[in-house]
Amino acid sequence: MSDKKKIILGITGGIAAYKAAEIARLLTKQDFEVQVIMTRTAEDFITTLTFETLTGRKVYKYNSIDEEKPMLHIDLAKWADLILVAPTTAEFLAKILHGRADDLLSTTLLAHDKKVVIAPSMNKNMWENSATQENCRQLKSRGIIFSGPEHGDQACGDIGSGRMREPKDIVKDINSLEKRKKKLFKNKKVVITAGPTEEAIDPVRYISNRSSGMMGCEIANAFHAQGAKVIIVKGPCKYSQNNEIESINVKTASEMLMSVEKNITNCDIFVSVAAVSDFIAKKLSSKKIKSEDIPKLELEKNIDIIKKISENYKVFSIGFAAETGELKQNALKKLKEKKLSVIAANKVSFTEGIDAETNSITLFWGDGKEKTLSLKNKKDLAIEFVEEISNIYN
Ligand SMILES: Cc1cc2nc3c(=O)[nH]c(=O)nc-3n(C[C@H](O)[C@H](O)[C@H](O)COP(=O)(O)O)c2cc1C
Repeated sequence: MSDKKKIILGITGGIAAYKAAEIARLLTKQDFEVQVIMTRTAEDFITTLTFETLTGRKVYKYNSIDEEKPMLHIDLAKWADLILVAPTTAEFLAKILHGRADDLLSTTLLAHDKKVVIAPSMNKNMWENSATQENCRQLKSRGIIFSGPEHGDQACGDIGSGRMREPKDIVKDINSLEKRKKKLFKNKKVVITAGPTEEAIDPVRYISNRSSGMMGCEIANAFHAQGAKVIIVKGPCKYSQNNEIESINVKTASEMLMSVEKNITNCDIFVSVAAVSDFIAKKLSSKKIKSEDIPKLELEKNIDIIKKISENYKVFSIGFAAETGELKQNALKKLKEKKLSVIAANKVSFTEGIDAETNSITLFWGDGKEKTLSLKNKKDLAIEFVEEISNIYN
């Protein structure tokens, strides 16, 4: 029996249907057996012959019957490990939301109890219409996975959101899902630090920074999703991680180090994402400094948590370096000086890095190896980061 993954590629009647041929080609070239099902309207846009040639399998149409399989939709639903609908029209989105089942693709989807991925494709006004948005919200809450859409040029001449994600990126999303199923970090213990630290100056004032804790929490979520036992040690921040993850709240770098050291036994991977305050006040005032006594604040270097951990414990250590310039040079210096396994360097600006919704990272490891993970939201970036770390770690 073939151990290839079985995927149904559903094609609906949108202008991007021609791009589904490239999806069928890419999936067939990889480890997938691809069974195409087309809606009646899809056939107005592209022929079954194209897909039969690319996949080597008979294409099923909206009303196909198979004499050997009288319950074709049930057989197909059970056969497939995953159903991908690309493109997904606005009409088809509404249809699956309501559980309608008036053709082979929709009946198969309704009978399928595994993963469903959809790649919406439509004009920007159709996409932005509150009816479509509400449909998407409900489909997501039911666990339907969205690949795209994206912002860009549209077939009708408009520019906006609703354009189908590029075939190679849809296939990448499918591959990521397959990887995630393998639980890359099963039985591994991962300790992660996140958020800022607060270093007191007097009983009411402190030195801190703008770290939101989002990147660290999303990395914790991504390791957890990959089967790791995760412990997150967090400085004061609002962002929260999956509530199944063990969390320890701290304020200062010293408290953070203490908590990490308490939990580092049998730890496989340590990820230092926290923006630990680099400086602390040389002298802590036990009384609140009067507002009229403008202090001459003398600072000294704070403890270096990641350096301490990678020097004293046998653990795969990953450091983060936020830089405003000389990214590579500074990252490589830290990689060596702090004896890290990997350093994840990111530029800091108003749209990237600290306190921003999006980020991009370049990983440096070994003798001059590097890989850039492009700008995206921190949740998706964390998933990609963890997958990439599994390639380096193993
Ligand atoms: C030329 C043309 C292009 C179309 N392109 C799209 C599209 O990109 N996205 C979409 O949601 N609907 C599009 N439509 C409308 C759909 O074809 C229509 O809603 C159809 O009922 C969808 O059926 P299906 O989802 O069962 O395939 C287009 C219609 C025409 C005539």
